[in-house]
Amino acid sequence: MTTTPVRPRNDPAQYDDLVAEWWRPAGEFAALHWLAEARARLVPPPGRPGALLLDLACGGGLMAGRVPGYRHVGVDLSASAVAVAATRGIAVVRGDVAALPVADGVADVVLAGEIFEHVDELERTVAEIARVLRPGGILVCDTINATWWARFSLVTVGERLPGGPPRRCHDPGLFVPPERLRALCAAHGIALAVSGLRFSVPDFVAFLVFRRRKVRMLPTRSLAAVYQGVGRKAAR
Ligand SMILES: C[S@@+](CC[C@H](N)C(=O)[O-])C[C@H]1O[C@@H](n2cnc3c(N)ncnc32)[C@H](O)[C@@H]1O
Repeated sequence: MTTTPVRPRNDPAQYDDLVAEWWRPAGEFAALHWLAEARARLVPPPGRPGALLLDLACGGGLMAGRVPGYRHVGVDLSASAVAVAATRGIAVVRGDVAALPVADGVADVVLAGEIFEHVDELERTVAEIARVLRPGGILVCDTINATWWARFSLVTVGERLPGGPPRRCHDPGLFVPPERLRALCAAHGIALAVSGLRFSVPDFVAFLVFRRRKVRMLPTRSLAAVYQGVGRKAAR
């Protein structure tokens, strides 16, 4: 019998422990599948042939097949995750989002899905996103707000529910207030608009009771837990 080690919160090694979970739609990363679908809805069609979409912290590549027409390149710190993403047809490179191994101004779109709440160096990460985006390029992101509700629903309760984040996945001390993210983006020339996201309650009940796989993420006025952002880097 294999046992999963108990690790500190937000330990990057947890992604190695959970490598077999990436593509199990009802597994430990189930909610990332639901979020990937919501994220894909915000990605504009490519504006030119060969447009580059840079998928930061791509994990096991759950955006694969959801961004047609782009050259899809994923970057992630986890060797095991990028190996999985590569099997899904994504060109991958191992790297840190706070020091991207990518040239300036090459990305038409940057995706930053469920990563800002995992990094110590948020400002450097936003600066890197601004550096690699073309003028006029688009940032699409989603993350978790620094509220008591996010901590309660996604950590205290969520980590104990099927479909919730894996145990000890998050350090709530890294959760990101939207006003801080918007200010950092603005300081780096990206005008970010944010909107709230919640799961469909009937879908989630069906997931828990009947093991239905698909749970829709729906817009909500509240930014108290998960929120998405879309922003354009200023054109020169
Ligand atoms: C919650 S998962 C999100 C994965 C993917 N974006 C998705 O939504 O399916 C967080 C990912 O961030 C990666 N990660 C954490 N810190 C990172 C860093 N500093 N640079 C690059 N990747 C990082 C982890 O390896 C993991 O794959």
